[in-house]
Order: sequence, then structure tokens, then C-alpha cells
Amino acid sequence: MASIPCALIVLLICLSQDHMGVQGKTPTVFSSEGGNATLPCRKVVPPDCSSTEWIYTGSKAIGEVFTNGKISYTAVTHRAKGLSLGSDCSLHITDVTTEDVGLYTCNQEQVYLSVLQVSASPSETEMETNSNVTLNCVLHTPDNWDGIDKTKGVSMSWADETKKDLKIIENCETKTPPPCSITRTEELRGPNSVYTHTCQLTAGGQVQTSVSHTIKVKG
Ligand SMILES: *[C@@H]1O[C@H](CO)[C@@H](O)[C@H](O)[C@H]1NC(C)=O
Ligand SMILES: *[C@@H]1O[C@H](CO)[C@@H](O)[C@H](O)[C@H]1NC(C)=O
Repeated sequence: MASIPCALIVLLICLSQDHMGVQGKTPTVFSSEGGNATLPCRKVVPPDCSSTEWIYTGSKAIGEVFTNGKISYTAVTHRAKGLSLGSDCSLHITDVTTEDVGLYTCNQEQVYLSVLQVSASPSETEMETNSNVTLNCVLHTPDNWDGIDKTKGVSMSWADETKKDLKIIENCETKTPPPCSITRTEELRGPNSVYTHTCQLTAGGQVQTSVSHTIKVKG
């Protein structure tokens, strides 16, 4: 008879730990357009990844991307390639696009993917001297994104922020409505020079991802 309450206590401990896990914030992986992303599987089912199930929930689609031991592109119609499974059951995405943004679920454990993107106007990568270019850096976040612990803070900045006039956005996670973005205009001087601008995303005090844009000035 004494063994029953004992089993009950073990069960209660298990339940309370599970509950604590549910209360934690869903983690976010930050990547940039053209980069790679690795989404960790937070609940690996032994003995290997063959019974792992990855589900993608994006603004336009929902469905399985890894099931029955195989990658499937049915749910991610914007992709035809570039998905693979790591030996630790993580989901690898190569050449990330803004369409990959979403919520990914591995065996019921969730992880968000957010993507940083820089665009230029005009978009030419070679421009005349003394012309102006405007760069816009945007953090694309999943719908209803709540993946960040408010105390950790998400901010956007240009890497050469010693230039005092460059804007830094603090607290992207509380910005409504999304997306969070920063803009700069540059006058391109000097023939044959090369301008590289890097937008970076910081969370929890660390640079998580960055994306660069290079413009050559014609001779
Ligand atoms: C992304 O991964 C591919 C394949 O593993 C590799 O060839 C490529 O260099 C990676 N790209 C970046 C930006 O790391
Ligand atoms: C570029 O911007 C500067 C500063 O705003 C302005 O004086 C200049 O006329 C602009 N150049 C062109 C080609 O628009």
C-alpha cells in the first residue's frame, strides 16, 4: 500500500516540472535573408529522429515539414529545397527568405523563426558618385509573436553606429504594430569606392544575426 502514495508523489513532481516548462517563453531563432537557420528540436524522442515530427505554421500555410522520417515541402510551398534534418533532429534551413518566418513545432515543442532583411532604394548594387541611397532594415516576425522575455530586449542597429545620427530601435518586442525597422540615407561619394552597411539584431545583450548590403560606386 505504501508504494501508491510514493508513485503519486513522483507523478506530481513530473506534472509540476512539465507545467514549469509550459510557462517558459517559446524561444526565437533569428536569421537573416540569404543566411542559414538551425531550429533546435527541444523534445527529441529516443532512440533517433525517425519518429520526429516538425510542423510549420506560417501566415499562409500550416503542415508537416518532417514526418515519417522524410522532409516534405507540401506545407512550405514557397520552397522546393534547402531543408534538412540534423543528427540532433534540428531543422536546418539554407538560403533563408522572409517567407520562412513562422512557428515551428518539433514533437509539440515550439520555436519561432524571425528573419532580418535589408533592402535598398534604388536597388542597384552599382551607382553613380554623389547619388543617394536609402537602406531599410526590417525584422520580420511571426504572427502573434510573443517569443521574447521582455527583460532580454530586442533591438536593431547599424553596425557602424559611431555615426551619432543613426537610429537604434530598442524594444522591438513591444513595438505595435510590427514589424520593427530602421532606415538610413547615404550619399555615395568618391568614384570606385565600396560601401558596406550592416544591420544587426541584438537580443539578450548579444548580436543574434546581421545582414549586409554592399554598393559599388562607379568610376
Ligand atoms: C549555408 O549552408 C550551406 C550548406 O551547408 C553552405 O554552403 C553555406 O555556405 C551556408 N551559408 C552561410 C551564409 O553560412
Ligand atoms: C543627396 O542628399 C544630399 C543631402 O540630403 C543632397 O544635398 C543631395 O542633393 C542629394 N543628391 C542627389 C543626387 O539627390
